[in-house]
Amino acid sequence: MEATSAPVSLDLPAIQALAAGDMAAVDALIRRRLGSDVALVNQVAEHIIAAGGKRLRPMLLLLAARALGHSGADAHQLAAVVEFIHTATLLHDDVVDESDLRRGRKTANALFGNAASVLVGDFLYSRSFQLMVELERLPVMKVLADTTNAIAEGEVLQLLHIRNPDTDESAYLKVIERKTAVLFAAATRLGAFLAGADESAQQRLHNYGMALGYAFQIADDVLDYSADEATLGKHLGDDLAEGKATLPLIHAIQHSDPGVRERLRAIVEDGDVDAMPEVLAAIDATGGLEYSRRRAETYAAAAEAALDGLDENDAVAALRGLARYAVRRDH
Ligand code: IPE
Ligand code: IPE
Ligand code: MG
Ligand code: MG
Repeated sequence: MEATSAPVSLDLPAIQALAAGDMAAVDALIRRRLGSDVALVNQVAEHIIAAGGKRLRPMLLLLAARALGHSGADAHQLAAVVEFIHTATLLHDDVVDESDLRRGRKTANALFGNAASVLVGDFLYSRSFQLMVELERLPVMKVLADTTNAIAEGEVLQLLHIRNPDTDESAYLKVIERKTAVLFAAATRLGAFLAGADESAQQRLHNYGMALGYAFQIADDVLDYSADEATLGKHLGDDLAEGKATLPLIHAIQHSDPGVRERLRAIVEDGDVDAMPEVLAAIDATGGLEYSRRRAETYAAAAEAALDGLDENDAVAALRGLARYAVRRDH
């Protein structure tokens, strides 16, 4: 009898090397399809796209397709579509969050103003629709229409929780599912779809992406309290400044003594970023970062488990590696 070996997982440099050829093609496609004859559109879009970013969502789509045996121009095109959608949400998100640093640069809203950011965000959304329609595949359009709609709902849902100290873990999870995880799930499902996988394999990849998305956003919210700012390329404390209670703070509110709890609740209601030292002390005292990291690890493990049953290959190993990377990253 053959011994069953532990599943292989690749580290980030190996994953990037594996995807490098495809990602170069996607990047070229993004640049080719970014243009407009309206100069301000080019300026703003170029500003955020040229800053880079991890390009994680297109990589996930390509790896999901490859995990199931597919590679080709349609995968490149859809990978560009998900990155356009992601970039559009970032332009809008930075306006809503009043953020002024992204990808190590001043945000588009800080440089060009809120109006230009919102409108160029709309341009990128609609450009993504133009690209996806070219594929002439209704199921793809359905997934992406549902996904972009859910992301918009997620951002509005989050708005409803701003400065609300009663936001609990379950409300938080509902927000991050829609604002973040659904796009990861769409990317990996569509990769499987392009590969001609049956519904059960598509569902597996969807479940992988969804769990990964939760893990990724929880990790992002931990980084907002704990990263090195220069490495992160975003300001720390943006969430608190906005009165956004994310998992580390939700945990601290729930596990502090009544006096501290009331103080934390007032800080959330005021969006008082000057109270950061107090908030960090409370998060520290209640183990809020460790708790949140453990929750992220649990989702990452669920993402990996969703891949069990697929035939192992280098792309599956890369997807496992990305689940681990999502919670261990420093930016
Ligand atoms: C930022 O996403 C928004 C979140 C969902 C946390 P990324 O961290 O993937 O951003 P870039 O594309 O690498 O800048
Ligand atoms: C990002 O959430 C979600 C979307 C862009 C839809 P965050 O507000 O936490 O992302 P960052 O920290 O600004 O990148
Ligand atoms: Mg934000
Ligand atoms: Mg964040």
